[in-house]
Amino acid sequence: MLILIIIVYTYSALAAQMSTFTQCDCGYSDPTTLATWSEMWHMNFEKNDGSTATMQQQQLYSLKELFFSNYIIDAKFNDSYPRVFRKENVLVHDESLEVRVTVDSSKSKPIDRIQCGGVGTNRQDFMYGSFRSYMRSTKVNGTVAGMFLYNSQGEIDIELLSSVKPSQAYFAMHPGIVENGKASALTHGNSMLGFEPADDYHEYRFDWFPNLTIFYVDGVESYRITTNVLDLPSRVMFNHWTDGNANFSQGPAKENANINIKNMTFFFNSSDISNSPACLNSKTACDIQSKLTMVVRLSNS
Ligand SMILES: *[C@@H]1O[C@H](CO)[C@@H](O)[C@H](O)[C@H]1NC(C)=O
Ligand SMILES: *[C@@H]1O[C@H](CO)[C@@H](O)[C@H](O)[C@H]1NC(C)=O
Ligand SMILES: *[C@@H]1O[C@H](CO)[C@@H](O)[C@H](O)[C@H]1NC(C)=O
Ligand SMILES: *[C@@H]1O[C@H](CO)[C@@H](O)[C@H](O)[C@H]1NC(C)=O
Ligand SMILES: *[C@@H]1O[C@H](CO)[C@@H](O)[C@H](O)[C@H]1NC(C)=O
Ligand SMILES: *[C@@H]1O[C@H](CO)[C@@H](O)[C@H](O)[C@H]1NC(C)=O
Repeated sequence: MLILIIIVYTYSALAAQMSTFTQCDCGYSDPTTLATWSEMWHMNFEKNDGSTATMQQQQLYSLKELFFSNYIIDAKFNDSYPRVFRKENVLVHDESLEVRVTVDSSKSKPIDRIQCGGVGTNRQDFMYGSFRSYMRSTKVNGTVAGMFLYNSQGEIDIELLSSVKPSQAYFAMHPGIVENGKASALTHGNSMLGFEPADDYHEYRFDWFPNLTIFYVDGVESYRITTNVLDLPSRVMFNHWTDGNANFSQGPAKENANINIKNMTFFFNSSDISNSPACLNSKTACDIQSKLTMVVRLSNS
């Protein structure tokens, strides 16, 4: 059977590609979780022909899909630094979206010395879904790389701490629960990675359902949270920061550090009911796995 898939590359000439399968207007089904999601978002920072991606910063900043963090989060503790997020710390480099922590050792004031990076979706209507990204972290001690869902009431986080060896992934729901002064396992967890996350790209993923979030690393379930699960429309964010909190990020980082995002793929529902599947072009949901393979084949052709 020949299935015609129409791919719409919004930025076909650029290194960042958004694709949508117009054929799959009846949603996407995941045979492994039995979930069905209405929409797919895919952004790929690997250039079609595999040559080095050259995307101008201004082109990146003008992508209407993305939001670039440009603000300061005050220091939380006396021994930690403010987190100064600058959009210049997010760029396309090394065939990926690079999110930098930069250290200017000629500056003495913490606020001038260390800058962090953050990027996310402009869409803030993600309301349940499967959120996946291939990321490579950093070896530079003292930074936190995060992939998370965010709304004004809370977060779902996957975090990689470069100070912790052997390497682990941290999973969290915010607001979290504290028991005897420690983060409760009901809202916080971690798992050994069994690999060095700064060496290569790995898939970090969480599936967000009502009252349940499942975290995965390279497709393997690593943790589940059923307490305080977000239930409001959210945006997807990635950030990379350092703040000198001795109990968490450690650091602050002493040299420049970067994390790299090769691609992001989200299957999701929208809080906007008008985004529900129309089921005009197809009668049944497309299989998630076939879409992932299709995206890969086209972007490598
Ligand atoms: C997401 O939308 C699909 C329809 O495309 C629906 O079948 C499914 O139940 C929704 N999932 C959640 C968690 O709301
Ligand atoms: C931070 O420093 C201020 C003033 O030096 C002190 O009052 C406060 O208790 C300190 N806070 C913490 C969390 O150590
Ligand atoms: C990072 O630095 C902290 C504080 O100096 C230290 O405790 C930790 O072991 C270091 N981690 C690595 C991987 O070197
Ligand atoms: C989550 O579970 C609670 C308690 O069982 C229930 O009241 C609530 O409606 C559930 N939330 C969702 C989004 O299904
Ligand atoms: C680190 O943890 C210790 C012990 O729980 C606490 O006293 C201290 O305030 C914490 N420091 C920071 C920066 O969170
Ligand atoms: C994302 O990038 C990784 C690493 O290069 C690759 O293995 C994977 O197939 C890509 N996924 C998609 C959906 O493009």
